[in-house]
Amino acid sequence: MTSTRPVEVHLRSGEDGCHWAREHKAVAVVVDALRASATITCLLHGGAAAVVVVKEIDEAYAYREAHPDTLLVGERGGLKVDGFDFGNSPNEIQRADVQGRQVAFTSTTGAQRLVDCLGASAITVGTTINASAVARQVSAMAVAERVPIVIIPAGLATDPDVVAVEDWLGATVLAGHLALPIHQASAPSYQQYQQLIQSTGLLQGFLQSSHGQQLVRLGFTDDIRVCAQVDLITDIVPTLMAVVPLPHGGQGVRLRRGAPEHATSL
Ligand code: MLT
Repeated sequence: MTSTRPVEVHLRSGEDGCHWAREHKAVAVVVDALRASATITCLLHGGAAAVVVVKEIDEAYAYREAHPDTLLVGERGGLKVDGFDFGNSPNEIQRADVQGRQVAFTSTTGAQRLVDCLGASAITVGTTINASAVARQVSAMAVAERVPIVIIPAGLATDPDVVAVEDWLGATVLAGHLALPIHQASAPSYQQYQQLIQSTGLLQGFLQSSHGQQLVRLGFTDDIRVCAQVDLITDIVPTLMAVVPLPHGGQGVRLRRGAPEHATSL
């Protein structure tokens, strides 16, 4: 018998969210609002052919060794990794020429969460800057597949106890763009962060978060300004298209600009 229950939206943070996405074969949306989600979106908006997300710096180097034309993008401690072409900076990527290039990307948390979602029904990258486009695509995917949507505020991979306010704010903006019910267990957090957005504003919320303050100290305030612009990009939903076996073992995820009908099955 076909279920008539509406598709529901869940908000579950960090590793718990990735686990839930795999277990429920959900459509996963990873939100690393400062800054991985925005950087990946800007790379594809700038014309990068694909972004291969890997967990480890060594995996990115090994990928480039096997595919020498690859650009390396990413950070550790917020700063560009030695030997990489660009940092995890949407502001920097908006000015860079990435047209037609393959990119290997790694970051402290966002990259880990994306790879950890492998096994979900679909994996996408969402945030404030592509909220409407993500909402449209993931609704269509979830309704077609009759599976839930889980929006995953990425948190901090190195400390599971950290509540990453900026990621919850981004996830709340996204959830607000979906014309679908929020699951009752997720509703209190959703309402709490909606109130914060109403009282403080998104930009101030990002700036006041502890990761936002770290980025300001490092000189990346302009990145936060980019990340706070709702629907800055209206046509890019980084979407898993294939699992990439890496040269020395492990897996990466190849993301392209959307069009789920072209996705390979997992
Ligand atoms: C991450 O993926 O951990 C973040 O995007 C870190 C950063 O802001 O560079």
